[in-house]
Amino acid sequence: MDVRTVPVEPFTDQKPGTSGLRKRTASFMRQHYLECFVQAILEAGDCAGKVLVLGGDGRYFNDRAAQTVLRMAAANGVAKVVVGQGALLSTPAASNLIRVTRAHGGIVLSASHNPGGPDGDFGVKFNVANGGPAPEKVTAAIHDRTRALREYRTLDSADLDLSRPGTARLGAMEVEVVDPVAAYATLMESLFDFDAIRALIKGGFRLRFDAMHAITGPYATEILERRLGAPAGTVMNGTPLPDFGGHHPDPNPVHAHELVQAMNGPEAPDFGAASDGDGDRNMILGPGLFVTPSDSLALLAANAHLAPGYAKGLAGVARSMPTSRAVDRVAEAMGLPCFETPTGWKFFGNLLDAGRITLCGEESSGTGSDHVREKDGLWAVLLWLNILAARRQPIGEIVREHWQKFGRNYYARHDYEAVASDAANKVMDELRGGLSNLPGRVVSGLTVEAADDFAYHDPVDGSSSAHQGIRIMFEGGSRAVLRLSGTGTEGATLRVYLERYDAEALDQDPTEALAPIVAAVETLAGIKEKTGREKPDVVT
Ligand code: G1P
Ligand code: ZN
Repeated sequence: MDVRTVPVEPFTDQKPGTSGLRKRTASFMRQHYLECFVQAILEAGDCAGKVLVLGGDGRYFNDRAAQTVLRMAAANGVAKVVVGQGALLSTPAASNLIRVTRAHGGIVLSASHNPGGPDGDFGVKFNVANGGPAPEKVTAAIHDRTRALREYRTLDSADLDLSRPGTARLGAMEVEVVDPVAAYATLMESLFDFDAIRALIKGGFRLRFDAMHAITGPYATEILERRLGAPAGTVMNGTPLPDFGGHHPDPNPVHAHELVQAMNGPEAPDFGAASDGDGDRNMILGPGLFVTPSDSLALLAANAHLAPGYAKGLAGVARSMPTSRAVDRVAEAMGLPCFETPTGWKFFGNLLDAGRITLCGEESSGTGSDHVREKDGLWAVLLWLNILAARRQPIGEIVREHWQKFGRNYYARHDYEAVASDAANKVMDELRGGLSNLPGRVVSGLTVEAADDFAYHDPVDGSSSAHQGIRIMFEGGSRAVLRLSGTGTEGATLRVYLERYDAEALDQDPTEALAPIVAAVETLAGIKEKTGREKPDVVT
């Protein structure tokens, strides 16, 4: 088979500092576009002669993109690619597979929770040997490469059959097709008390899992229904579809409303959960109850020792900066180190690798542990089930007891999507410019205690990341955070994170509890005036 060298123009689309490229599917399908990015990964990621893992969330173009990656890997001298059957792998399963096969890294095809299909989004991400997203120095090298690229290399060869496990050759490269679920399911069995969860379910505990027509369908069906004995139908929307059935595969109350409705109905199961397009996010529900991701992280930290994989206790915990400080209170009570990192999973990687933390999470529905180097939706669901099986209490009672002990961090995130970049930058720049005048100011009855533009100093590698979001701390433990999204694909997305701490009043309506913080943000940032938006597009 002949290697073909194709001349191309360099492209500059990748945002520096992001671990992958996420764009409209149509962009990726443009001539040479996917190829240029893959070539940059293979070169800057130093993949020649190495073993790579490959798989994706099954969205539209996943199958063809995988064949392109395989041909290019072979043409660039990659020794072997381990690929999920059907070119499928959830993000956490890809992370695990990189680790268990001791691969050099992996290429994950996904745009996470973004809609898929010809009019949706597609994405390509490079993970490194620890199973996590490539660190900044690698992504910067990839970015530089995309801007200098003059050609890419591929093979003139037919598509490989990826529909069955087995091995094949593509030129000099070995290709091993593996069951995408098996290694991941084994890992879950090693962490959790499957017997206890099976007994819980056998005793009449009812659960429902919404796979949102995305990648976790096969994983949840195998683990929840086959291995744990939940009745058929426990997994809803379990067949992965290239366009996720036309929906947004994002596990939040807006997009998983069918599940939320069921959980709020008279026949509500005891537990409900959902995961996103590529299987790394989770949503946790009880009858009439939405457990905020921030609370979920705190509750998991407080109870993880009930699962065999965490019985020895936790080394420490970490949360992304905008995530509520509920977990900080648990860490303090348990005497655990607690780290505050910038948004994005990659910052947890160093702490996990160094053994400084065991659990970590983000307000955006990501929770995970040192078992892989990505957040993991189904893992969070199984840890919750293990805790429920050990405590034998309804989830609502467990949450309430937690608040009684630690106080409640009311929390919400307001997103302003596809805002003109100029307007969004104006909001941030003006606020940033006036930060030093804020302490002591009283707004909407709240006194500003401190305000800053969050900077992170990585305690493991000593690197610094500045301008990670504006934090406004109010007296009494309440807080507002403003930052611009790094993952949006259209204009700018302004995120406003609202948090109000209350040790006594545990049953307020969250919207009412947060109203003074919302008013304070409007006074300080002038979002309405600068963006022309009367209200946020999405409230989670
Ligand atoms: C969003 C989330 C962030 C998460 C990232 C990738 O990033 O807010 O927590 O790590 O997606 O799933 P953002 O768009 O806010 O930059
Ligand atoms: Zn995701």
